Amino acid sequence: MSIDAQTLLIALKTRTGFSADHQALLKENTDWALALAPDMANHFYEYLGRDPEMNSVLNKKEGSMHRLHSTFVQWFHEMFTGMDNWGEAYAERRWRVGLVHVQIGIGPQHVVPAMAIVVQEFGKRLLQAEKPEALREALGTIAMIDLAFIEQAYMEVAYNAVQKETGWTEGLFKRLVSTGASTL
Ligand code: HEM
Repeated sequence: MSIDAQTLLIALKTRTGFSADHQALLKENTDWALALAPDMANHFYEYLGRDPEMNSVLNKKEGSMHRLHSTFVQWFHEMFTGMDNWGEAYAERRWRVGLVHVQIGIGPQHVVPAMAIVVQEFGKRLLQAEKPEALREALGTIAMIDLAFIEQAYMEVAYNAVQKETGWTEGLFKRLVSTGASTL
């Protein structure tokens, strides 16, 4: 990988303005988030199941649905705990999640709306629980960081695969992509 996960996380924190206040607020709500997580997971996988394309991915591998429920709960909870204060372990974990989705062929057109559903549903739960509006911003910010990891994984995997096959440099690869985009 030409991008280091930790370096990417640092850049994304700066770009999104993921602040100490956001982090403190998320940590304060860790227990509430953990209690909420199974319900969020149900809502999320019901949503995926209503889409024929995503439903077929979910049902491709034996036991995926069961594993996904618990991995979602863990993922959701980690946004609040920050694992190691949103440090190296957090970055490595998010990178891994990105790679898993590239491997199973889940593209940006699936992941971006799915993250929107998480943020939307969280907003509703937050209102019901009378939690502060600032918590929505904090969750929305870390969710966008997580999303950027998944998106970036596509680019990195594509580049690495092409590089392995052809020996092209990253610069040449990017130039070809830019040229290709202008002909579409
Ligand atoms: C907000 C976006 C998403 C998040 C946060 C998310 C979260 C996760 C996590 C944490 C894992 C476990 C990764 C690991 O094993 O290390 C996972 C795996 C997986 N996700 Fe997602 N996911 C998202 C979107 C999607 C979408 C749109 C699909 C479409 C069907 C999907 C299908 C899967 C599948 C099939 C696996 C592998 C399950 C297995 O067999 O173990 N995910 N996801």
